[in-house]
Amino acid sequence: MPQAGSALLVIFGASGDLTRRKLIPGLYDLTCVGCVPRKFEVLGVGRSPMTTEEFRARMRQGALESSGIRHLDHEQWANFEKRLFYMVGDPGNTDFYRHLGVKLEEMHQAGSSTNHLFYVSTPASVAAPIIEGLGSADLNRNYQGWSRIVLEKPFGRDLESARQLNRTVLRTFDESNIYRIDHYLGKETVQNILVFRFGNSLFEPVWNRNYVDYVEITAAETVGIENRASFYEETGALRDMVANHMLQLVALTAMEPPIAFDADAVREQKVQVFRSIRPMSVEEVARRTVRGQYGPGEINDRAVPGYRQEPGMREKSSTETYVALEFYIDNWRWAGVPFFVRTGKRLARRMTDISVHFKRTPQALFARTPDEEIDPNVITLGIQPDEGITVKFGAKKPAAQMQMAPVQAEFCYRTAFGAATPEAYTTLLLDAMRGDATLFTRGDEVEAEWSIITPIEEAWAQLPPPSFPNYAAGTSGPAEADTLIAGDHRRWRRLEQLVQKAT
Ligand code: BG6
Repeated sequence: MPQAGSALLVIFGASGDLTRRKLIPGLYDLTCVGCVPRKFEVLGVGRSPMTTEEFRARMRQGALESSGIRHLDHEQWANFEKRLFYMVGDPGNTDFYRHLGVKLEEMHQAGSSTNHLFYVSTPASVAAPIIEGLGSADLNRNYQGWSRIVLEKPFGRDLESARQLNRTVLRTFDESNIYRIDHYLGKETVQNILVFRFGNSLFEPVWNRNYVDYVEITAAETVGIENRASFYEETGALRDMVANHMLQLVALTAMEPPIAFDADAVREQKVQVFRSIRPMSVEEVARRTVRGQYGPGEINDRAVPGYRQEPGMREKSSTETYVALEFYIDNWRWAGVPFFVRTGKRLARRMTDISVHFKRTPQALFARTPDEEIDPNVITLGIQPDEGITVKFGAKKPAAQMQMAPVQAEFCYRTAFGAATPEAYTTLLLDAMRGDATLFTRGDEVEAEWSIITPIEEAWAQLPPPSFPNYAAGTSGPAEADTLIAGDHRRWRRLEQLVQKAT
């Protein structure tokens, strides 16, 4: 991995979960592999009163619990934690930014970097006041180095609020210094979609409507809402997962080759995909989307409560924890090819993948093969936890008279490359410090995403509410989702039946 330039990272929302579970472990990992320069400090900012020592202890605990870190070396951690500092403050108060400016100056005097990376990891509603506060104290400008801002998702909650947030941040920072996070783009396997498609000449000729029957994208989770009741009630699965992560997977699967692998060229092609997604009328939303909410059930032999029984939840909540949708991309390459996308919480297993299902052969030559064994070709790009690629094709059954059976060729990251892949946040933090925005979303890109999602939310508000709960925890989701995809031999990959290869 390349080394980052020197930086002073200021994290807003430092007492929150993301800092403890992802950001600090990611930075620790970077330090261990020598990617962090000598001049690198973190200033955590939060409302919770805490001393720097308490902050360090809390971060250490978070790192120990984090699944991302493979091994916490006590000596390495002791050296790393000397770079962590904490400042109590209310980011909603404009006076605070003056104090922050003074604190940063003190840190420079003591030898810290003069490059500033502001990481806004707070609820969306606090993002605008933080940006304005930084501007009011002139911290958006930096005469001794650079000044960049990282904005966590969700970027707004609909098209209008995303536009508003874009206007606010663009008044204060130049687009080249704005890093809008979608952590899926930091995943190795997500980046590999582009390498697989555009680094090989074998697949691209068939990656279009002439050969592809349909595309299926799944992001299934076994976790519930993890103590985020109020956030999730405001958000729901469509805004939480589809408006960003799932649409990014659609874009990377469907986009045209960029002219170069750089931030603007890649983002330009993704925006083109979003603009080509066919808008849905209310009637189409009723036909081409399915909402679900989990009821009580069992996951890994453990009884789990339904969504409405989660702590802090409304008894009659109508928030969706599952969505399935059928998108069409109206462009030359994909005309007529449905993209089926689904995501949900408390499903039978954790699995994110993209399956490209190819058309059947024009003639059934090996007619002795029972119908159910003639499976069309499928290329599956495994994002997590099975990181790899499988190609499914037909082979002759040994000894049988010219009969076919489906078989798979597999590539597995771990087997091929040995080392475990870095965590998404580790990659993204390093890129932001290096000034590479390729794996971050551009302003027009997030607005294009919301232009797809907002009409769906609006149509749902007009349609009769579904009767929730409509799937039991630990299953593949609501039965209506099967109807959405059904026809011409199309069906979702059954989550219950898929065997997990890695964890
Ligand atoms: C987050 C969502 O952006 O992504 C969570 O807010 C979700 O609800 C998470 O669980 C999934 O990320 P990953 O990396 O575990 O697939």
